[in-house]
Amino acid sequence: MPAPRLPALVLMLAAVGDGAAGLALPHAVLDAARARYACKSFDPSRPVEPAQLRLLADAARAAPSSFNVQPWRCVLVSSVEGRAALARGMLGANGQRVLEAPLVAVFAADLRACGRAARVAALAAAVGAPAAFVSRLPFYVSLFSSGYRLGLLKWPLFVAKRLAMALLGVLRAVPKLSTPETWAFKNAMPAVTHLMLQAAELGLATLPMEGFDEGRVRAALAIPRRYAIPCVVAVGHASERAAAAPRAGRFEFDELFAAETFGAPWVPPPAPLPAA
Ligand SMILES: Cc1cc2nc3c(=O)[nH]c(=O)nc-3n(C[C@H](O)[C@H](O)[C@H](O)COP(=O)(O)O)c2cc1C
Repeated sequence: MPAPRLPALVLMLAAVGDGAAGLALPHAVLDAARARYACKSFDPSRPVEPAQLRLLADAARAAPSSFNVQPWRCVLVSSVEGRAALARGMLGANGQRVLEAPLVAVFAADLRACGRAARVAALAAAVGAPAAFVSRLPFYVSLFSSGYRLGLLKWPLFVAKRLAMALLGVLRAVPKLSTPETWAFKNAMPAVTHLMLQAAELGLATLPMEGFDEGRVRAALAIPRRYAIPCVVAVGHASERAAAAPRAGRFEFDELFAAETFGAPWVPPPAPLPAA
């Protein structure tokens, strides 16, 4: 008869019952999330090493996306000339940050996600997704993303789709139809977050920016009109001033979370690790 494992289990349950006090849980991701902050100035003399850049790209590439469409591209700008051109499209102090940071990742979100459907279907088939799902993927992508190539016709079609969904919605659950830009942006931002968290783990500082002129950034980097630009991320080493700056606060748990229904108070369990 195998040795009883009960004592360990009892100890664990006791620890959980005790509000998880003393229960050690891994928290590398939380550590990276807490280490990240919006860095407002960079040390221009310290580069991002190629191996670090590779990890940033791997992390962004691992991000989830709806139906695995991955509707984004990222232009990595590190040359002095490239950043100078980009800086002219940035607003206010963001221009200076782009000049200082050794790397700027410009995310572009695909407004014509349907153009990726065949490739996405092939990826799904390659991992053994059911044939019925694979064959329906182009339809799902077009339904959710509204990202088809129809020129001005896409807007009447979009309105017609919304009307049809509103009618169908009386009878059954229907998806919310995003505009192509909303859909592409929501699917690009997880990649932005992955990149920033990986940077934080490497001790690199980042600054996500929406303060830019999209037309000028597009022109500076030759980004096609098929893409909109959700976010520009400066990456590098924090200047001493930025590293010492106070960190932004966060709302309390009860202002962010609810239990079961919206607005119902949620009581956070005790943290199983010392608060940072
Ligand atoms: C989508 C997005 C756009 C942002 N745009 C800018 C920006 O243009 N310029 C800037 O200085 N900070 C920008 N920020 C940084 C926020 O101001 C910052 O994340 C927020 O104040 C919280 O501070 P923390 O990131 O240091 O915790 C942006 C952040 C996000 C997520």
